[in-house]
Amino acid sequence: MAEQLTGKKILLGVTGSIAAYKAAELVRRLQDVGAEVRVVMTAAACEFITPLTLQTLSGHPVALTLLDADEESAMGHITLARWADWFLIAPATADTLSRLVQGRSDDLLTAIHLASEARLVCAPAMNNKMWSHVATQENLTSLRSRGAVILGPASGDQACGEQGEGRLLEPVDIVTALAESVVPAVWAGKRVLITAGPTHEPIDPVRFIGNRSSGKMGFAVAQAAAEAGAEVMLIAGPVGLDTPTGVNRHNVGTAAQMYAAVMQQLTMMGSRDIFISVAAVADYRAETVAPHKMKKSAQQGITLPLVSTQDIVAAVAALSTNRPYVVGFAAETEKVADYAQEKLKRKGLDMIAANEVGAELGFASDDNALQVFWETGSQEVPRGPKLTVARSLITIIMGQINADSTS
Ligand code: PMT
Repeated sequence: MAEQLTGKKILLGVTGSIAAYKAAELVRRLQDVGAEVRVVMTAAACEFITPLTLQTLSGHPVALTLLDADEESAMGHITLARWADWFLIAPATADTLSRLVQGRSDDLLTAIHLASEARLVCAPAMNNKMWSHVATQENLTSLRSRGAVILGPASGDQACGEQGEGRLLEPVDIVTALAESVVPAVWAGKRVLITAGPTHEPIDPVRFIGNRSSGKMGFAVAQAAAEAGAEVMLIAGPVGLDTPTGVNRHNVGTAAQMYAAVMQQLTMMGSRDIFISVAAVADYRAETVAPHKMKKSAQQGITLPLVSTQDIVAAVAALSTNRPYVVGFAAETEKVADYAQEKLKRKGLDMIAANEVGAELGFASDDNALQVFWETGSQEVPRGPKLTVARSLITIIMGQINADSTS
């Protein structure tokens, strides 16, 4: 299982606990399974273990302060935040958990937490009374609800002489738990097809009908599916986004091209287990595309005849052979639940993820929130970064597929 960490970029955050000395062995154990490790330490952590120790073991300078011009020019907090696949804070003190919940950014470690899309993993270490205090427990609930993974703590003798829960897990156990809980590979062996972004329907060589989709949500779903171990093919409309690691990509421009690419993947490239239609496909295209740029006429306006495009997700849901599990999206500005459930039925989908689109959410924003519906139930995904929302959606889809297969 720990081989799942091979090649992963892990930013290890070390905070001020007596257990900080275990960070040295943790660096080694992570490297043993092929992970690439960089270290960031708080000022309090430096009272327990020297940065030189962790620099020597990790083979990289240890990041210490937010306001150091040299460090910021070498690998500053934003670069580190982008570099990491996972942000593992071990040991994580009670104070650190509280500061993460508050969204503080007054030291390097907390600023990286805010700036990073990396999955947050905390291995707490503290006195057992501090661990069981309602404030700490509420902080943990809050972090978990945002998608963070909490590893441990262990129970036993504590440095303060007491006994109970609050000991940092042993480094080897952190590595095992990290591999198991962060990369559950719930979609290992699954073949997933995803559409993302808008389509552009040409009117003439220089104009098109389009929409505000940036592709961020669909790309986040592709990344989350790949993280979960799936083999992912992403059919992308015209967007300016980098392809997520481990995802195969095919670019298209129009709804007709997207339809053809999806059908080619489903019928000629072998079957797919899951189809997730995140793309904001144009519902209409110009009946005829002018061969030259249309000239402004003396008339007050023009009438542009439009015809419907093919409904891609409905066509996939209607396949009689090799039909995948079909998940649609619904972008609504009002009556979100009603309209989404109507689309679920009309298009013959297995599941639909509805998002309210408006000034701040949905199209082009970095955050989203979903109401997910299937025939017999529903679940809400609270507002968060699109990648966090996408990871929750993957978990919901998997849960429903498992439930369907056992019913
Ligand atoms: O790309 P972002 O900027 O991150 O924004 C994300 C998003 C708001 C575009 C995304 O979360 C979203 O809601 N995507 C679906 C947008 C949409 O087209 O919704 P719809 O209600 O019009 O369509 C319903 C479903 O039918 C969708 O799954 C859509 O992909 C599919 N469809 C629609 C028309 C068509 N011709 N073919 C289709 O497959």
